Amino acid sequence: LRMILIGPPGAGKGTQAPKIKERFSCCHLATGDMLRSQVAKKTPLGREAKKIMDQGGLVSDDIVIGMIKEELENNKECQGGFILDGFPRTVPQAEGLDAMLKERGQTLQHAVELQIDDALLVARITGRLIHPASGRSYHTTFNPPKQAMKDDVTGEPLIQRSDDNAEALKKRLVTYHQQTSPVVGYYQKNGIWKGLDASQQPGEVWKNMLDILEGKK
Ligand code: AP5
Ligand code: ZN
Repeated sequence: LRMILIGPPGAGKGTQAPKIKERFSCCHLATGDMLRSQVAKKTPLGREAKKIMDQGGLVSDDIVIGMIKEELENNKECQGGFILDGFPRTVPQAEGLDAMLKERGQTLQHAVELQIDDALLVARITGRLIHPASGRSYHTTFNPPKQAMKDDVTGEPLIQRSDDNAEALKKRLVTYHQQTSPVVGYYQKNGIWKGLDASQQPGEVWKNMLDILEGKK
């Protein structure tokens, strides 16, 4: 499987991607998770990225294209294919991905857009909790962990992302509509785009996702 997931902050990319990974035995590459791991390690890139992320802007195209390229080349899990979550987020990133795949003699099979009104995203984002090491996400109301503030798998503490507040979300949405919406047009033109109603329950979204990936929709 070779696919990308496009959608605004809180649409459910990080919720659906692990299920796709498990079902199709491929890698799940989330540029946001990779950047947050650099932030946690306080690398020079991490320090720079944190400022941009907390303000809802985008890290430079070259940096994220380089991160994806490195993973596709070296991550063994990617031999079975990949799901890209949060990448490409600009048209130059989409072009960079095409160039990378061309070198490998591959093409993208699916570009799935998780469609949802901005108004529904505030509650999703402000209630989200994450397990930093794995990137697993929960929600205080919509998907509570078994034990309060603890990861179901490891029992380790859950935290709130520093960009998960109403103010930063507003800026992330502006960035999305200005810079990432054109990516939808890019894949509509090349014929692999499919839209999916992401306002439904997670289980319904998953069912529709499978229909798309198995060619039933
Ligand atoms: P990134 O980490 O990609 O953040 P994002 O795009 O804002 O997306 P989110 O992770 O917020 O949302 P999601 O769709 O994964 O939602 P989730 O499934 O967790 O990027 C962060 C930052 O890094 C960017 O702002 C940018 O600065 C930088 N960056 C990253 N990639 C970059 C790139 N390519 N180029 C440049 N810069 C880049 O769900 C959200 C919540 O809702 C959860 O609590 C979940 O439990 C709940 N939920 C999920 N589905 C449902 C449902 N169906 N019903 C009810 N609740 C649900
Ligand atoms: Zn995410």
